[in-house]
Amino acid sequence: MTVAARASQRKHSAPEAARLLAWYDRHARVLPWRARRGERPDPYRVWLSEIMLQQTTVKTVLPYYARFLARWPTVEALAAASRDDVLRAWAGLGYYARARNLHACARAVVAIHGGRFPDDPRALRALPGIGEYTAAAIASIAFDRPVVPVDGNVERVVTRLFAIEDELPAAKRRVRALACSLAPARRAGDFAQALMDLGATLCSPAKPACSLCPWSDVCAARARGLQERLPRKAPRPAGALRQGAAFVALRADGTVLLRRRPATGLLAAMTEVPGSAWRPDLSPTAALRSAPRFARPVRWRALPGRVKHVFTHFPLELVVFVAHLPRATRAPRGMRWVSLDAARDEALPKVMRKVLIHALDGDNGARP
Ligand code: ADE
Repeated sequence: MTVAARASQRKHSAPEAARLLAWYDRHARVLPWRARRGERPDPYRVWLSEIMLQQTTVKTVLPYYARFLARWPTVEALAAASRDDVLRAWAGLGYYARARNLHACARAVVAIHGGRFPDDPRALRALPGIGEYTAAAIASIAFDRPVVPVDGNVERVVTRLFAIEDELPAAKRRVRALACSLAPARRAGDFAQALMDLGATLCSPAKPACSLCPWSDVCAARARGLQERLPRKAPRPAGALRQGAAFVALRADGTVLLRRRPATGLLAAMTEVPGSAWRPDLSPTAALRSAPRFARPVRWRALPGRVKHVFTHFPLELVVFVAHLPRATRAPRGMRWVSLDAARDEALPKVMRKVLIHALDGDNGARP
């Protein structure tokens, strides 16, 4: 009998949880934030990893996690860091509001909770950067509270297990309720991580490895041959393309002109090369009017090609202009010259790293 059929008869799903836990005991991924068997998880590590893993893959997170932990081994240490240092260490991970919230959350945990993370999902949710998913992940993994964090991977597993044919995101609430109905009274943290691992390994979006799955014989989607078609998703409206220009000014002493973005909005307070606004209708010639101004006129050369980047809500294409300036050139107000070496340690978001790489690769040294 599939789990869906059993649930409709109001039978208990404890056997499913036990089976998944037995699978996890043999196949759990070894990840640095996970406690080993018999060890107590460290809530700071669990929280740090969960914030980093929001919208980012495990592989990308691993080196960042190791660097953060080496530099700030406790929540107190992170709270005492400067926000700029945290942003710089985060650069390249994307979604920079997460880094600002990470820092604000560390400070709040120290100021409000005496440096100890609360174990209650509601108290966790009240902290900066912690939404419903992350609160459930921390509460279950760090404190074994019987809640189930439901992200995209877990949604896929549960949608298939119960053969939910309604489209996501409309079906989210139902999927969440079904996920919670599976939670065991004990080992809630292992159960949450087992669901994550199942979604990340066997129950993949395409070609799931059903023959290896501990739930293969109770999975309603598999029973009906629907596993590759679920979950169904409503088409997401894509944001309109925005365009802009980025101006890479290179001074003869090996420095590049940088500035800080405004304190609020997209990529707030991060470092960038100067540029135009990003708009749906911007032409490169119009964008040239936003080039930084120096005491003397400068010849900007447009490089062939565009730098493309996709933000959550819109795709962006940037034309990159390059100019070479003499050693003594002063930086315009609000901007500064930074050596190309030191630029690596700046809080440069990924799109700006792409711009610099494009400029340095595409610049054949042609000088005015
Ligand atoms: N994705 C989100 N949280 C995770 C975790 N704790 N382990 C593995 N993958 C995850």
